Amino acid sequence: MPTYIVLLGPPGAGKGTQAQIVSKTLGLPHISSGDIFRENLKNQTSLGVQAKGYMDRGELVPDDLTISMIRDRLSRPDCASGALLDGFPRTVEQAKALAGMLEGFHGAVNAVPYIKVAEQVLIERLTGRWTCRAQGHVFHEMHNPPKLAGVCDHDGSELYQREDDKAETVINRITVYFAQTAPLIEFYQRGGQLLEIDGTQPIDRVTADLLAALAKKV
Ligand code: AP5
Repeated sequence: MPTYIVLLGPPGAGKGTQAQIVSKTLGLPHISSGDIFRENLKNQTSLGVQAKGYMDRGELVPDDLTISMIRDRLSRPDCASGALLDGFPRTVEQAKALAGMLEGFHGAVNAVPYIKVAEQVLIERLTGRWTCRAQGHVFHEMHNPPKLAGVCDHDGSELYQREDDKAETVINRITVYFAQTAPLIEFYQRGGQLLEIDGTQPIDRVTADLLAALAKKV
């Protein structure tokens, strides 16, 4: 049976940071909906062009576009043993669509680590974030600085600040999260899949808690 894990949490909770570490430990591909949208934007595909306005405003891309993009990604051979999803689902409609999709792959969502971080910490984390252009590796100017300013430790590519990490867009993303994504906490709690993780700890402590919680579920 394939293993599917969904990382849940507000913007800046540390989903991408943890996914990059945990996907290697568990041997599951890291599927980030935000990274796929950004890749499409970079390549000027029709999906990227359609998503751009929503992303720039800090709003969610419409469900139909997002669901079909993820269905296509999960159908690829590297997901035969499962996947670690980061940023999807983000609405109850997406969560229901995911359940249907996984049934088709003879699987289900096994665990949903919810990385919990207080709202006031999120703004500081996002406005201080630096992201690698080549592969999306994530750094923070204070909490997780690169060895050499502006250069990715992992692949030497340039680090940049995301357009949607400007303070006003960050505030909108957090508002959208509480309105549209936070209901998934209850959705997955009812399903018995939710694992609450304290995301305010240092990165390595969050990883240790995450792996310990997952070990009981997958
Ligand atoms: P997306 O790219 O998914 O952004 P997000 O969910 O807002 O998440 P982030 O990437 O901002 O945060 P994160 O939790 O991954 O934190 P990170 O690890 O980087 O989505 C972008 C946009 O795409 C959306 O706004 C929407 O428009 C669209 N989209 C994507 N998915 C969609 C969907 N399903 N439906 C519709 N639209 C969709 O960490 C943040 C910073 O904190 C980093 O600098 C990091 O170094 C630092 N940090 C991490 N952990 C710690 C720690 N423990 N202590 C101190 N610092 C830490």
